[in-house]
Order: sequence, then C-alpha cells, then structure tokens
Amino acid sequence: MSNRVTKTELSEIRKGKISVKEYSNGEVSVFWKPELCIHSANCLIGLPGVFNNSKRPWIDIKGGPTKDIITAVNTCPSRALTFLKNTRIKSQSRKKGPKKAAKFARIQVLKNGPILVTGNFIIRDANKKKIRVETETAALCRCGASKTKPFCDGNHLAENFLG
Ligand code: SF4
Ligand code: FES
Repeated sequence: MSNRVTKTELSEIRKGKISVKEYSNGEVSVFWKPELCIHSANCLIGLPGVFNNSKRPWIDIKGGPTKDIITAVNTCPSRALTFLKNTRIKSQSRKKGPKKAAKFARIQVLKNGPILVTGNFIIRDANKKKIRVETETAALCRCGASKTKPFCDGNHLAENFLG
C-alpha cells in the first residue's frame, strides 16, 4: 500500500481545507490528519525513533532515514499519515495522468480494531442520509465504543477490544 499523498489531498492541504500537521526533513514531507488516526500504532511500532506519542511533537522527522519514514507511513491503514517525496512527485504525477476512481470498495477487518473501507463507496446513516467522507478511506467502528460512530475514534484501544 502506498500512502503517497494524492494531488487532490495535496490541493486540499495547501488550501487549508483539512486539519493537517506537516513535518519535513527536506527530502520528504509527512502529513498527519489527526481525525483520521485510528490509533492502530503501526507507525509507533514500525519506527519509534520518528513516531513516538509520548513526546511532543510526536513526530520527529529527523529521527530516522527518509526511506524508513516512507516505509512506516505506508503501514498507516487509515491514511492519517501520508507523504510527499519532494523531488519525485511532480514528474510521477505528470506521467500517470489523473487518478482513476477505484471501481469497487475494499473492506478489511483490522485485528482488534475497526473495519477499513477503501475505494469507491458511499456511507449513509440510519435515516439513509449520505455521510460526507472527504477521503477514499473510512475506518468504521466495530467495537461499539466510538464517540464518532459510525467512524472509529481509536477508543477500541482504551476498551481493549479483541476480535
Ligand atoms: S492510524 Fe496511522 S497515524 Fe494513527 S497510529 Fe495508526 S499508523 Fe499511526
Ligand atoms: S473500532 Fe475503533 S473505536 Fe470502535
């Protein structure tokens, strides 16, 4: 899975449309969207020198090599973490042209955590009203403890949800 920031995401970030924190070491910029973080801890486990939630700021972008940072960002299941490799994204995105929307949704149950939906999907509430989702990924609460249902807010960790 690649969490390279998409053109749409980058444009929203640059226009300040979404709440995001940016960390850069000159070679790579890492974007963190707090509201998408489902506290899977993949980043903390993968590269603790850079991602450490007991420190402030919790991301120390100089704490590891760029290659390892990108590898860790790519393990983030909810795209709370994305990256922009400063030298390459422009030429690559030009070559590829506009990104096609995925035809189908993909649904993945995360161990002891939420259900991750990616791709082409629409979420409706119990009254069939469409819930606006800004990204191509949604983490849906499976444990029942989220305060932002239907989305996961990370409370499965506090609840020690197993399943
Ligand atoms: S969701 Fe992403 S940013 Fe949040 S803890 Fe997991 S890997 Fe880290
Ligand atoms: S699955 Fe994350 S809060 Fe319920």
